[in-house]
Amino acid sequence: MSDNSQNDFEGFGSKAVHSGTNHVGDAVNTPIFQSSTYKLTDERYAGWAAGAHHTLLYARITSVNAEAVCEKMCALEGGEDAEVFASGMAAISTTLMSFLSSGDHIVASTDVYGGTYGLLTEEFPRFGIEVSMADMTDPASYEAAIQPNTKILYIETLTNPVLKVCDIEAMAKIAKKHNLLCIIDNTFTSPWGCQPLSLGADLVIHSTTKYLGGHSDIIGGAVVGSKEHIENIFHRKVHFGGSADPHNCYLLERGMRTLHVRMPTLCANAAELAIRLEGHPMIEKVNHPTLKSHDDYEVAQRIMPKGTGMIGFVVKGGDAAALSFMRGLTMIYEATSLGGVESLVECPFNSSHMMIPEDIRHAAGLVPGYVRMSIGIEDIEDLWADIERGFANVK
Ligand SMILES: Cc1ncc(COP(=O)(O)O)c(C=O)c1O
Repeated sequence: MSDNSQNDFEGFGSKAVHSGTNHVGDAVNTPIFQSSTYKLTDERYAGWAAGAHHTLLYARITSVNAEAVCEKMCALEGGEDAEVFASGMAAISTTLMSFLSSGDHIVASTDVYGGTYGLLTEEFPRFGIEVSMADMTDPASYEAAIQPNTKILYIETLTNPVLKVCDIEAMAKIAKKHNLLCIIDNTFTSPWGCQPLSLGADLVIHSTTKYLGGHSDIIGGAVVGSKEHIENIFHRKVHFGGSADPHNCYLLERGMRTLHVRMPTLCANAAELAIRLEGHPMIEKVNHPTLKSHDDYEVAQRIMPKGTGMIGFVVKGGDAAALSFMRGLTMIYEATSLGGVESLVECPFNSSHMMIPEDIRHAAGLVPGYVRMSIGIEDIEDLWADIERGFANVK
């Protein structure tokens, strides 16, 4: 445990900076403890025997840097305990496999992140786990899909890349009513934009690769929740082995210290670009939850009023025009992933969603010309100038 308890700080920013810091040797931040194992002492043997998961024994179990970042994660999401992983997918698979056994059932949605969709549809059936798909924007559809063997309602704060908003409160209520777990992937807003535990969710998952890390330099994951649930997940993490190494945790902790200054800038940039794009003659439609034209605007105002840096829009002229637009950008890099300080762009039809048949893609809102951007913390006028360059490249 660190010598900065999360209870020492009231404000989100102070927690982001200070919670969890381990001031070893009077360092002002947690140094990298690049050690795979720790000297065994009587105290550590006792911790091992008791199965205590915060005992420093071996870095797959935990490490000085994992402890620090878990404590910060708890402070920011308002959870009792946390685990960190080597990727967001390791966090998702380990968490779900902690609560599902052969014969169980989970309700999710076709709109979930592609990797999660693959896990649910390609891997879970091999283990005898049943999956039903419902609509994340329609809590009643989730309730209707519940079976006697259902254990989990799985949702995401915002869907990718069409940015539909999930009514977390309503989903969590349904989960409680049926004695199920409500597990949510909160990657697209970060705890700065939404704290699902306070809305009734049981466990919150992140790909820390994105906003929490914030600098496109790590692959990582995390889960936050009650002590009891995290204790269960901890044992699966140790068995499945997707633990985050000390250097990864160090970079994550460093990134999280500025979450509250990065997020307002990139959210404000995205909201402003959404308005400008909506008024542009070469644009058919803009998806951003801060726009009144967004289908889920009311829910977004209640669940995640601060917005997100993610934005989706449809360039007139179809996929060829979207591609020309994207290839005309010079500052906004064409790359997959999101949540960094730099803006990134992709066309889902030839990247993240290329494996999905065209008709299904179109039905899901990924119509021809769809572009997804992750907006960073660059200056708004430079972002807009780059977007104008993109439009100028469309013949
Ligand atoms: C919403 C969401 N969840 C989970 C993941 C998986 O995270 P990772 O790539 O860190 O395994 C991603 C990756 O893009 C994501 O966008």
